[in-house]
Amino acid sequence: MAAFPFTIAATDGKARTGVLSTPRGDIRTPAFMPVGTAGTVKALTVEQVAATGADILLGNTYHLMLRPTAERVRRLGGLHRFMRWEKPILTDSGGFQVMSLSQISKVTEDSVTFQSHLDGSRHVLTPERSIEIQADLLGSDIVMQLDELVALPAERDRAAEAMRRSARWGQRCRDAFGAREAQALFAIQQGGTDEALRAESAERLREIGFDGYAIGGLAVGEGHEAMCEVLDYAPGMLPAERPRYLMGVGKPIDIVEAVYRGVDMFDCVLPTRSGRHGQAWTWDGPLNLKNARFAEDEEPLDPTIPVSASRDYSKAYLHHLVKAGEILGQVLLSWHNVAFFQALMGEMRAAIAERRMEAFRRDFAARQKAR
Ligand code: GUN
Repeated sequence: MAAFPFTIAATDGKARTGVLSTPRGDIRTPAFMPVGTAGTVKALTVEQVAATGADILLGNTYHLMLRPTAERVRRLGGLHRFMRWEKPILTDSGGFQVMSLSQISKVTEDSVTFQSHLDGSRHVLTPERSIEIQADLLGSDIVMQLDELVALPAERDRAAEAMRRSARWGQRCRDAFGAREAQALFAIQQGGTDEALRAESAERLREIGFDGYAIGGLAVGEGHEAMCEVLDYAPGMLPAERPRYLMGVGKPIDIVEAVYRGVDMFDCVLPTRSGRHGQAWTWDGPLNLKNARFAEDEEPLDPTIPVSASRDYSKAYLHHLVKAGEILGQVLLSWHNVAFFQALMGEMRAAIAERRMEAFRRDFAARQKAR
């Protein structure tokens, strides 16, 4: 098995910075993956996304299997060619989206059956089918195992059952994936907020052996403090020599706290979603561009971020676009936010390399809270 080489260039406390090398290009870590759920990072062209410095995007099995279907994407040359993104793509396996989006779903040992949120049609995902969709039809570079999620707070027995089923599905995904030169398979740790369940999950997954390890089942309603408590121990349970990926997280402050605790990869809809709602993320926290205080503010959002949305347009103009409901306001704020998240990751990579992550974290938290 030739896993993608992962080189850790520097560590600072538990934080690490390095490079995950793939045939489609290097992923600098800590890395943030913009979410391209339905074959698009919402409101942005791939050229705009590339200009933010993103090394990798996330795509979703759940959405693409329903529309336009994975078979159609395959006939059109795979997801990279279809959406014109040549760099790496990680795809999520579908389990989480079934839980959060479909009206009705039923999990058995063999599969998860669900109704489409689009038209109510019935679909089935097995670990084997999820691997076929991701690896063979979409042509994903980093494939996620199918897992089972429980909403928090959950009964311990329920969390244990889902964690153990996820580990068994991890083995089935491993078997279905086989040995591949140019694609990687990542496991997903579950176990809710229970340390013993997280440990058992990690042990089962390490025994199977994966190219990377995700921490799943967080940011599902447990809150920042409870999440940080899990992150105090969960990353250390996963192999130090492979990338660790915290799924679906999060706010800039959550990402900084997780990097500080040893996480290497992230994805979240937050930068694009909040951009569509008139919010801009900055070093001083989020700004609501609808606010009248920006009506005649001629400064740009951030002259140091190298995309025009951040550097060249005034806050007054962005305020006007948002107030007028103009589509360009959504485009520019989404673009700025994705670029800000990339700038944040770049600053953390530098802070770790220069062994000043502790100070970076302290200063960042103070500035985010300031307003
Ligand atoms: N996205 C956010 N959290 C999760 C998770 O626990 N599992 C999967 N598959 N996707 C996620």
